[in-house]
Amino acid sequence: MTLLQIMPEDAPETVRLRTDDLDVIHKELLRIGVRLVRWHAARRLPADADDTTVMKAYKSHIDHLSAEGGYRIVDIVRMTPPPADTGQGRQTCPAHEKFLQEHVHDDDLVRFVVAGTGCFYLHVAGQVYAVLCTTGDLLSVPGRTPHWFDAGARPSCTAIRFFQRADHSAIRFLPDGIASPFPTHDDLLATPGN
Ligand SMILES: [Fe+2]
Repeated sequence: MTLLQIMPEDAPETVRLRTDDLDVIHKELLRIGVRLVRWHAARRLPADADDTTVMKAYKSHIDHLSAEGGYRIVDIVRMTPPPADTGQGRQTCPAHEKFLQEHVHDDDLVRFVVAGTGCFYLHVAGQVYAVLCTTGDLLSVPGRTPHWFDAGARPSCTAIRFFQRADHSAIRFLPDGIASPFPTHDDLLATPGN
């Protein structure tokens, strides 16, 4: 289920809007220049599909978006609990842990969720937009938008990433980042009503 929860930047416990209505989500995000659309695979994907199979299944979408947005680099990232996962506590690997902190980068933030879930938090115009994306969601956020990302204590997320620049790994963490008091990916999924 795709979910949007909007909170004031200075009151993380206050919910201004919470919805799983895709039309409402689409409209609310467009107001801040963010696009969320749904993609469907050209063929049914097995759960253990490798990168080549995933890329083939979404080739027409990928080619169209890459041409439209000038995305020259397309790759796949897979977030899974480590093999030694005990089921207790946050198990995110250090490479992904850093994305829990508010940061910016020049490149657009463009991610397509192939499988699983992941929550993108966009800090725009005095509010935090928590966008919980699920299988089939493509999220496009303009570059330099302050944001953070959480896939939960036991991540299960495979995503296609799109980049305009070869140096896309250059990110700047914000010293006054506001991420920590906001509901996590797991909090949002656990809230009654889901
Ligand atoms: Fe980022």
